[in-house]
Amino acid sequence: MGKTQLDTLDTEGTPFLLPDTDVPELEFAGIKAQYAALKDSIGPRVGDVFRHGRFIMGPEIEQLEEALSTFAGVRYALGVSSGTDALIAPMMAAGIGPGDAVFLPAFTFTATAEVPLLLGATPVYVDVDHRTYNIDPADLEARIAKVKAEGKLTPRAVMPVDLFGLPADYEVLAPIADCEGLFLLADAAQSFGGSIGNTRVGALAPVTATSFFPAKPLGCYGDGGAIFTDDADLAAKLVSIRVHGQGTERYAVERVGLNARLDSLQAAVLLAKLPALEDEIAARNALADLYDDYLAEVVEAPLRVEGRVSAFAQYTIQVEDRDRVQARLNAAHIPTAIYYPKPMHYQPPYAPYGDGPGSLPVSEAIANRVLALPMHGYMRDDVAHRIGSAVRQAIAG
Ligand SMILES: Cc1ncc(COP(=O)(O)O)c(C=O)c1O
Repeated sequence: MGKTQLDTLDTEGTPFLLPDTDVPELEFAGIKAQYAALKDSIGPRVGDVFRHGRFIMGPEIEQLEEALSTFAGVRYALGVSSGTDALIAPMMAAGIGPGDAVFLPAFTFTATAEVPLLLGATPVYVDVDHRTYNIDPADLEARIAKVKAEGKLTPRAVMPVDLFGLPADYEVLAPIADCEGLFLLADAAQSFGGSIGNTRVGALAPVTATSFFPAKPLGCYGDGGAIFTDDADLAAKLVSIRVHGQGTERYAVERVGLNARLDSLQAAVLLAKLPALEDEIAARNALADLYDDYLAEVVEAPLRVEGRVSAFAQYTIQVEDRDRVQARLNAAHIPTAIYYPKPMHYQPPYAPYGDGPGSLPVSEAIANRVLALPMHGYMRDDVAHRIGSAVRQAIAG
């Protein structure tokens, strides 16, 4: 029999969407290095699921939800099928829809802006801070005032994003949301494991969504996500929305919902990985410190905010001549990535909701300069030094 297309698929290859390298120790997101370290915990957990056979809503879901709510310090944690579903379900529960303005940063991953549009609401792009990459509270206030003055849309929700792992300014954003009557939904897809003071991501906002996409600080081996809240009524609605709007009886439908369940295999993987998360976040921060030593004098390195722990999903620098720096690192087999090359108002399906080029100057400028370096909790020290020094040299020319 000849080779099929499947035979030629490289199942050992770098996971979907991640930058590639042919030097194993230079892995971008450390997914293989982490598996090597944790496989003795992951294997038995996954094996349990095959043995009991409850692949949907098996016992791992409740165990994981309990472990996640304890970790985050909130009453309710709900496993869902992706970070995107973790964003859309609370917006559905809050009744966001046509005629509603949803404020969100222009510099983010598509999913943030996709969610209001899927519900018929209108995204209103807000500029970000050029050092934290997070939504700029002053610009948020200005955009809310503009929407109110125009009188066409009702300001209904705000979705701050903890970009690259750094929690947004919730101390400033929550009072703005309260004062304006906005539903505040934290897009913490990239920041689970981060914190402000003694409060962890999950408990920093009234409702928080995270993603367990494999490359995230806490990642599974497929798609997955979770929603966190202390609000019992909201949690009950989310439980229903997650399973087609189901009521207390299985075929009693109470609302329009989704198929947004997390599956038991992914929950098993997450149960095995969660105990390592705290150490991994510490290791990511130590790696960031090491990179800082090489780079902080020569480029804009990620800003450290007093009292705030980033989950360091990404270590992102800003460079003027990005193509040249990236090409040099590529030649040295060091994988890099550009998150994100365009702000939302430059993406054709999303542009009609913005005010065109020049309307979000910080987002537009940083999209041309950002470059993410390899970052994970399992990088060897010698490799980290090698990367730090190579990046410094690449910048120097
Ligand atoms: C900021 C942000 N929001 C939302 C998402 C969506 O998460 P998922 O890919 O799990 O649907 C992501 C994932 O990449 C993200 O980075």
